[in-house]
Amino acid sequence: VNGKIEIPVVVNVLYRTTAENISLAQIQSQIDVLNKDFNATNSDFGSVPALFSGVKANVGISFVLDVVNRKSTTKTSWGTNDAMKKTAQGGLNPTSPTTKLNLWVCTIGGGILGYAQFPGGSSATDGVVIDSKYLGTTGTATAPFNKGRTATHEVGHWMNLRHIWGDATCGNDLVADTPTHNAPNYGVPAYPHYSTCSGTPVEMTMNYMDYVDDAAMYMFSNGQKSRMLATFASGGPRNSFAQ
Ligand code: ARG
Ligand code: ZN
Ligand code: CA
Repeated sequence: VNGKIEIPVVVNVLYRTTAENISLAQIQSQIDVLNKDFNATNSDFGSVPALFSGVKANVGISFVLDVVNRKSTTKTSWGTNDAMKKTAQGGLNPTSPTTKLNLWVCTIGGGILGYAQFPGGSSATDGVVIDSKYLGTTGTATAPFNKGRTATHEVGHWMNLRHIWGDATCGNDLVADTPTHNAPNYGVPAYPHYSTCSGTPVEMTMNYMDYVDDAAMYMFSNGQKSRMLATFASGGPRNSFAQ
């Protein structure tokens, strides 16, 4: 590793309607958001409250659009069973999944914005799925999820981050510098929002790994950064991506 992690992104677009066959501009707007959010150059990074200014992170991972693959399909929605990742099921197999992040863009359905595979799984299904209505910041991107943060959140999972509430009441996200949250937060929470968990900490609702609206999430923590970088380190499950 030379200290710089740059991830090539393969975008697989599966469309039935012309609207689902999103533009290159919409795809590039998503790559731009990932680069900002993972390098602390997002315009709302300065909105992180002073309480968390000591732990807000510049993750320092960049993304570059590698190729866009497009395929016409007859499916109205794909669900979450990974069919979109399989050519034999009407989808598209991933391209070079041990060295490139594969992103599938399609209609998922069921109110699901996106989903990701954690490190350590099968390379045949590795990557991130984002519903076309919640990808990027232009074209078919739909409020309040039109700032590209669904992909930021899902790529966080792909780099081994858990939800900030630990998927349980006052659960553990395995990150020391994030406060214990009661439960997921939604919408645009008022600050400060106090947890009723042990110690009643102020919740870090503006963290990308909460469930708030795109406009209300704008930071990773240093502990989350360490957890992400560990996946790319020697012996880590995503070391094959490090240059
Ligand atoms: N997996 C989550 C879902 O589908 C993604 C939430 C992303 N949140 C956001 N503000 N974009 O519900
Ligand atoms: Zn999630
Ligand atoms: Ca924590």
